[in-house]
Amino acid sequence: MENLLPKARQIEFHPLKLAKKQELTKTTFALEFEIPLNLSSQYHFEAGQYVTLQFLSDGNLVQKDFSMTSAPHEGKITLGIKISSEESFANSLFNNLEVGDDVQVSEPRGRFTLISKPHEFRTIVGFAGGIGITPILSHFKNILHTEPRTRLFLFYGNKNKRQVAFKNELDELVNQYPDRLEIHYFYSQEKLGNGLFEGRLNAKKVALIINQILQLDDTDEESTIWDAVDEVLICGKGEMIKSIANACYKHGIPKKNIHFELFEEFNEDIFPIEKEFPLMENIEVDFKLFNKEYKTTLNNNKMRLLQQLLIQKFPVPYSCKSGICGSCECILEEGEVELLENEYLTEKEEASGKILACMSVVLSKNIKVNFDLI
Ligand code: FES
Repeated sequence: MENLLPKARQIEFHPLKLAKKQELTKTTFALEFEIPLNLSSQYHFEAGQYVTLQFLSDGNLVQKDFSMTSAPHEGKITLGIKISSEESFANSLFNNLEVGDDVQVSEPRGRFTLISKPHEFRTIVGFAGGIGITPILSHFKNILHTEPRTRLFLFYGNKNKRQVAFKNELDELVNQYPDRLEIHYFYSQEKLGNGLFEGRLNAKKVALIINQILQLDDTDEESTIWDAVDEVLICGKGEMIKSIANACYKHGIPKKNIHFELFEEFNEDIFPIEKEFPLMENIEVDFKLFNKEYKTTLNNNKMRLLQQLLIQKFPVPYSCKSGICGSCECILEEGEVELLENEYLTEKEEASGKILACMSVVLSKNIKVNFDLI
């Protein structure tokens, strides 16, 4: 995700020593950072969170977010990074960083997290596409370590076997927890002689997985494993998340139990919005951003608030545009909006007046919002 947060929301960076750099596949590598004792409280994190690296690339100061693969009990920060092209920031990181270097690493953040339930018997399913494995790996290591009764199923899609990142670490987890962890690999560009595992992870594949893998439940002969699923974790590209999340929902998992993390900007809703809204025209908008007051008029409310402000070229913060990352979080000070589904704000935050501009449809003739949250 590109970092476009306003200054008021910038978080703290500290120099952390690079302890390890490891090539995982031809296009992925891992970085491991030590957490010094004096910064342990700042780097306390939850499974599924991410950090931002700040790095000089071709003379420009760049910031990029990367999900952690480490679990909190490991006491370190490890990242899995994909090199998408030779010109990419990731490639420059891989070529220029050496073990022992100090790197500017932000304090952890992100809400792709789960409430820990160490005393329950849970069934958790993960779907990962490519480098989307990173936060899922963190979750799985954490759950295996902290929830002795929870069983986990991972469905991990890649183009071919050579592109599977963290294969050794995943194999070790299966060896360590053979009764509680099952992993199935899917390849979109490799022939295996078994159609179930060939092709992309998508809605069709979810139906096959439910019927052919998550069938009879040894722990309860009356039901299937799928019937027992408590939480679903999905991470990868927008299209994949949309397809899998909707399939899980269609197959009976409540939306609140489907969690996802996007690794790119995605301009569509993950779950289609079926609602219709009364048409509003000539809407007056006042907003505060970077300590500056702005005023503008929206033609109507057919598009979400963020989209309309971006079309008018205002420097409003955003990243996912899908109600997941929280970058466009702001406070509604006057007026009315309908906040469509969001994966980010808690009920308490919504009640306090916070909204996500990317998921807000304006429902009054005037609104006033404040993007400077602090
Ligand atoms: S841009 Fe990510 S929540 Fe709005």
